Amino acid sequence: MRKIEALFAVAAGLATVSAVDGANAQQPGADPALLEHGKEIYRRECVACHGVEGDGAGPGAYILSQRPRNLQLGVFKLRSTPSGENPTDQDLFEAITRGVEGAAGAMMPSFASLPERDRWALVAVVKDFAFIEDPGKPISVPPRPAHADLALGAQVYDRLQCASCHGADGMGDGPSSLTLKDDQKRRIWATDFTDGRYKGGAAPDEVYTRIFTGLDGSPMPAYGSKATPDELWALTEYVLSFGATSTDKISGDTE
Ligand code: HEC
Ligand code: HEC
Repeated sequence: MRKIEALFAVAAGLATVSAVDGANAQQPGADPALLEHGKEIYRRECVACHGVEGDGAGPGAYILSQRPRNLQLGVFKLRSTPSGENPTDQDLFEAITRGVEGAAGAMMPSFASLPERDRWALVAVVKDFAFIEDPGKPISVPPRPAHADLALGAQVYDRLQCASCHGADGMGDGPSSLTLKDDQKRRIWATDFTDGRYKGGAAPDEVYTRIFTGLDGSPMPAYGSKATPDELWALTEYVLSFGATSTDKISGDTE
């Protein structure tokens, strides 16, 4: 594991988050030298979990209750693109920067402490494993309404039967959650929203995007075509409101 780096990750993370959020992160063009550089970093930072061949079968993978992704499958959960499409380079960059944190034991550390160029080099490696030549096109996320319509959100949550997996109280304990499997036929759990942690980040835009595009490879469907943008925003606020009692993330986000 990276030791000293972890200490700097917090400080580096603060500086990087804004760079990741904005469109100002510079992506170097396709470049064989960058890919080679990325492979070096991959061997150091990623092999323990994702394996030498990127198949998710690294020597440490067995410890994790949610296994590292088999990158060769080319199926990604944390996309800004419609279900079934390739992620954008930015999506991969953000996943590597943020890491994957989830209530049910998914643990990929944040690599925000690596230089930006190294993280773009890792994006090149992931695309190489996944045979991605054409990145997908991101959905458009309309601006967050000033007023959170939680009553509408509750209605939509009901209409779209989110509770069947996530539970009426958002605790991830709906009746269907007892039997869910991912695309590798591994047991997986519906997210507990009261926990306030999200694989794709807890910022409202990020949660909206996950609901719109779904998490490919998991049982979480894409709802972009099942509700209007206003309804999707109300639903996003409703989902976030489950976590409001245990964390102050929501009040912190309304600047
Ligand atoms: C400690 C183990 C671990 C390490 C180290 C690790 N990962 Fe992961 N990785 C995971 C897990 C667990 C997941 C998520 C599985 C899930 O939610 O399906 C994941 C998911 C991913 C994803 C998929 C995100 C998506 O949208 O589905 C990418 C890309 C990725 N890792 C790249 C990397 C790269 C590049 C490195 C090295 C810099 C790395 N990982 C290091 C465990 C790890
Ligand atoms: C068939 C079961 C199922 C249904 C129905 C379902 N989900 Fe999910 N959802 C899941 C699973 C399983 C996950 C966790 C996937 C993972 O951890 O990789 C998830 C994850 C999520 C996440 C977390 C994303 C992240 O970044 O961690 C959100 C938000 C979410 N669902 C919202 C909803 C909403 C809103 C609805 C209703 C419109 C809904 N879900 C309906 C199974 C479901």
